[in-house]
Amino acid sequence: MIDSHCHLADEVFAADLAAVVERARAAGLERALVILAAGDEKEAAQALRVEQLWPDVRFAVGVHPHQAQAFADRPERAAEVVRTQLHATPAGRAIGEIGLDYHYDYSPPDVQKQVFRAQVRLARELDRPVVIHTREADEDTLAILREEGPVRGVLHCFTGTPDLASAGLALGFYISLAGIVTFPKAVELRETARGVPVDRLLVETDSPFLAPVPNRGKRNEPAQVALVVAALAALHGLAPADLAARTKANFHTLFRP
Ligand code: NI
Repeated sequence: MIDSHCHLADEVFAADLAAVVERARAAGLERALVILAAGDEKEAAQALRVEQLWPDVRFAVGVHPHQAQAFADRPERAAEVVRTQLHATPAGRAIGEIGLDYHYDYSPPDVQKQVFRAQVRLARELDRPVVIHTREADEDTLAILREEGPVRGVLHCFTGTPDLASAGLALGFYISLAGIVTFPKAVELRETARGVPVDRLLVETDSPFLAPVPNRGKRNEPAQVALVVAALAALHGLAPADLAARTKANFHTLFRP
């Protein structure tokens, strides 16, 4: 089992990181993809601790749309910061999370688009997969992926429409489901998740956020990806172990060991 997206370098895990990693391994996780905010020195320092405790983790580095504003003057500098940090991160495998978020206006859409575009270009240049965050920005996200691609990647923490899922699949993307798929009201999302071919599915926690039922509202952690696996397995009529093995194989195909 692999958690394809978590924030173990977030300071909320600083105090009990070893116990969190221990529980992840006890739950049967071989690996996790830890997302790092490019240029964040506190996170980079904690990432080193994560790697010491759990040598099998891999990392993604990116400028999140919420942080795009910091690069408003020179959007291409976002890509340079990511490039430098990826070079310094031997276990770095992907560029992310990157994308567009029009739900919050921490950064103007125009700046977000330029910063996103620059990082997709970098992904192509380096032949790295991208981890995409998109919220209330489906059309612009897809347009940039089409214009700057082809690029491989994943639509992370998928909560979008069936149309977005279809468009992502048509671009060759994987679709990653988080704990939201266990929420009682997520009826349409479960329907969409059922329609995603198993060979294009990934599972994640997005921890510390979005703890699955029955732990909703508490701090989330990688061990709880087992609850997402169970929910998706039920939707696809598979045994949880089967779904875990297949999403693990998908992870390796996309991110390469
Ligand atoms: Ni995230």
